[in-house]
Amino acid sequence: MADGANEADFLEALIASERVEDWLQIIRSGTKQPRLTALKELAAAVSESESYAEEAQVAGAAGILTKLLAASSPADEDEESETQLIAKALTALCGHLAAIHQEHTFEYGGHSVVIKQGCLGEGLGARIWAVAHLMCRRLVEKPELVRGKHVLEIGSGCGLCGILAAKLGAAEVVLTDNEETVLLNLQTCMAANKVPSSSISISSKPADVPSCTSHDGASLAADVQASSICWSQGNMQICCLEWHNDWLRCQGRKNCCHGGKIGSDACTPPTLAVDEQFDFVLGTDVIYEEQHPELVAAVLAQRLNPGGQALLCCAVRSQALFDEFAQHVHAFNLLMTSQQIDPPHVKQGVFGQPHEYEGGFVLVTVTRRQ
Ligand SMILES: C[S@@+](CC[C@H](N)C(=O)[O-])C[C@H]1O[C@@H](n2cnc3c(N)ncnc32)[C@H](O)[C@@H]1O
Repeated sequence: MADGANEADFLEALIASERVEDWLQIIRSGTKQPRLTALKELAAAVSESESYAEEAQVAGAAGILTKLLAASSPADEDEESETQLIAKALTALCGHLAAIHQEHTFEYGGHSVVIKQGCLGEGLGARIWAVAHLMCRRLVEKPELVRGKHVLEIGSGCGLCGILAAKLGAAEVVLTDNEETVLLNLQTCMAANKVPSSSISISSKPADVPSCTSHDGASLAADVQASSICWSQGNMQICCLEWHNDWLRCQGRKNCCHGGKIGSDACTPPTLAVDEQFDFVLGTDVIYEEQHPELVAAVLAQRLNPGGQALLCCAVRSQALFDEFAQHVHAFNLLMTSQQIDPPHVKQGVFGQPHEYEGGFVLVTVTRRQ
């Protein structure tokens, strides 16, 4: 769980999700024999595999099994075997769950970052992706990239890199994502990482920090009071930034419902102010869907200050998609350089398997002209 997520994890989670749904459907409504078979298979899978335990949790298996357990009668010999199977599945599930949502501490260059990860079924950003660790390594090698800077992290997920940037002395880091469950977990991670004021750059005066307005224009403070969830702490704050809507809003057009699962206002941080721009933008594993090349390039064009720089660490699943990103970057009149990250320097196990990706791992620098 502490290691980075990769493609194999994702595929396993997809398969596990489908199979768990099928078993729970049979367990809820099937006749006795199919129900016993489904229970047996679920108990075995959950005992053996973290992915199956995670997906069972997301699908609400614990609640379904607990209800079934209460309704089953251990006096009857057949019922007892059913009771035993339910108990076995519940025991395995609880064992895994205790581990899934625990906090882990990652050490980078003498800085500790505490992160709570969830299940991939809760959103891709519920786990730390392999390339985020590579980005952390680059940031501790070159802390001047973020020191004293106004930093934006796009597609933060758990926020490992953005939180590390805050600890490395960024003036301010705005952590962003578009999924409600991911944003809530991001808030938990931010709260677990208090940045000592001595490590915050002297240029970070409250007056320099642009306010982050909410959907209806209310102040961040008012939003936080209303929701009782605190979306800022020290030199970090969390905002909602959905790339497609951001692009439309920055062009003065209305939001559409494209992407992102944002629900109730109470659980949603303020949206990043339309005119807020940054010295440094960082993003890891943010180009993986057909629409991402253009959207990520557009976000960089909108959000970088003149002369500002973005650093992206990409797991290149499709070389064509990555080349498309480079074309969009140039079309937005940005400068781009990229550098393959040499697999021998990538510690296997921690950083995933670069050879699983068509184009390996690539570090990309994008600069906006002065
Ligand atoms: C593969 S995860 C990477 C998470 C994190 N950066 C890491 O490397 O561990 C991709 C992240 O981008 C976010 N994302 C995807 N599409 C997005 C969009 N259109 N707008 C904003 N965020 C998006 C996802 O919610 C997710 O958190």
